[in-house]
Amino acid sequence: MKFLLATVLALPSVLGDGIQFSRTIDTIADDSSLLLKIDSGCSSSDDHGSNDCSFAWGDEVSGSVDLSLGHDLGEGSTFSVNMKVDSIVPFAFSCPVCGANCTTTVPIVNQDVNFAMPPCPVSALDLSTPFDYALPADSPTKGVKVSAKGTLGVKDAAGDTVLSGDLTVTVQ
Ligand SMILES: *[C@@H]1O[C@H](CO)[C@@H](O)[C@H](O)[C@H]1NC(C)=O
Repeated sequence: MKFLLATVLALPSVLGDGIQFSRTIDTIADDSSLLLKIDSGCSSSDDHGSNDCSFAWGDEVSGSVDLSLGHDLGEGSTFSVNMKVDSIVPFAFSCPVCGANCTTTVPIVNQDVNFAMPPCPVSALDLSTPFDYALPADSPTKGVKVSAKGTLGVKDAAGDTVLSGDLTVTVQ
């Protein structure tokens, strides 16, 4: 979850440099909920909070995340990313939610990523946490526009969908 949020926050301009994102949440397990509130920079909202957000480099992005996970996520739970970068380059991988490393390669920059996920199980939880994150001062893509669009999902060990949705991100 943290990785997904970090991905959403670290990545999203109509005019000029910055980061933009919009998302839909298609499915969320009956026993779970997600509400992401961002204090400014977003032009719409739905049951899951702020949407259609646009930030400039150097902006401070603050808000809160309320996450309720109704049941444990045990060994065998996965999260998957299935995106296309600039409509062409696939960025698709599936990783364990817990108990092993997540490894993938980020296209375009060809960066290998290998990081440890938390131990299993990830316990059922109710989390309400504020965040305040300063975007980097300058464009990590040196002003080159890169967009990515696709789906994200989390499944539990039984293969049932905990969360699924679509994400469109533009970085310039
Ligand atoms: C798992 O990731 C950690 C970094 O979080 C790394 O130190 C370790 O070598 C990785 N393990 C494997 C088996 O790749």
